[in-house]
Amino acid sequence: MTRRVVTGITTSGTPHLGNYAGAIRPAIAASREVGVESFFFLADYHALINTADPAQVRRSTLEIAAAWLAAGLDPDKVCFYRQSDIPEVLELAWLLACVANKGLLNRAHAYKAATERNSAAGAEPDAGVSMGLFMYPVLMAADILLIKANSVPVGRDQLQHIEMARDMAERFNHRYGELLALPKAAIDESVAALPGLDGRKMSKSYGNGIALFAPVPELRKRIFSIVTDSRAPGEPKEADGSALFRLYQAFATPEETAQMRRAFAAGIAWGEAKQALFERIEATLAPMRSRYESLVADAGAIEKRLQQGAARVRAMARPFLGELRAAVGLSKRS
Ligand code: TRP
Repeated sequence: MTRRVVTGITTSGTPHLGNYAGAIRPAIAASREVGVESFFFLADYHALINTADPAQVRRSTLEIAAAWLAAGLDPDKVCFYRQSDIPEVLELAWLLACVANKGLLNRAHAYKAATERNSAAGAEPDAGVSMGLFMYPVLMAADILLIKANSVPVGRDQLQHIEMARDMAERFNHRYGELLALPKAAIDESVAALPGLDGRKMSKSYGNGIALFAPVPELRKRIFSIVTDSRAPGEPKEADGSALFRLYQAFATPEETAQMRRAFAAGIAWGEAKQALFERIEATLAPMRSRYESLVADAGAIEKRLQQGAARVRAMARPFLGELRAAVGLSKRS
């Protein structure tokens, strides 16, 4: 049986090494397996929840699309599209909003965190909270259920959203018949979060990231600013727990990793280890970077590919939504 996989990438930032090792690389590898049908999309409606800067949304959409293509996504094999090119997503979001319990959405992590921050600051709990933020899990459920996906590869932080999508699908099916497929989260425990410069998880919000396609001198500078301890050259160093080592491991073969582990034990100087890390990462990135640069310079070609992806998705989504509309008592409209 084919497994249908869907995943979305919010277009509100520039991809960093953590996005590459934790999401882009494993998703592309999985899309090449037999018996897998993959749908990857640019979640630009979701981006509007995080940013009010239109130029940033446009720029990020282009950069993320180019990054995935440069990393080897094959748009003939994977359906690669932009969320906002599929009007059926929003139609389904409304149908789901009408079965979703408000109490369920009250418990969504992002919304809860916002209200807790407000309360702690003595403000009204919902101060500054948009309906977009509140509805975030409904929109995400529509992304997934529209595609009839069984499997959704996401980070642990997104697990709750997949469970909410299941909940909405079950409620919908209970009322209107078994029309929506129940999705499952696929959390790959073997892909550990990449550490950032300060050793915490690499994240845009911590500002500890390394941009995936930074110019080479910038990449080198960022790698050399990884925080290490004060152990001198010649002193043995712990590989486990070292952010530098974990970054190396994420880009190296098992043999290279074993060799680096021995070098740590033998007291490699931090500067030397950083140079080795820089060279290892650059060897992986260099060919991708040149593809990325030519892709970013040809936005028209990317747009054409996204339109082809959208046409494929809509060919399937339009009749499906007709069925759903009819099931809830609206005109079928084809
Ligand atoms: N919320 C996801 C994230 O921030 C992005 C996303 C939007 C998504 N819609 C999705 C992921 C549907 C998987 C499926 O990472």
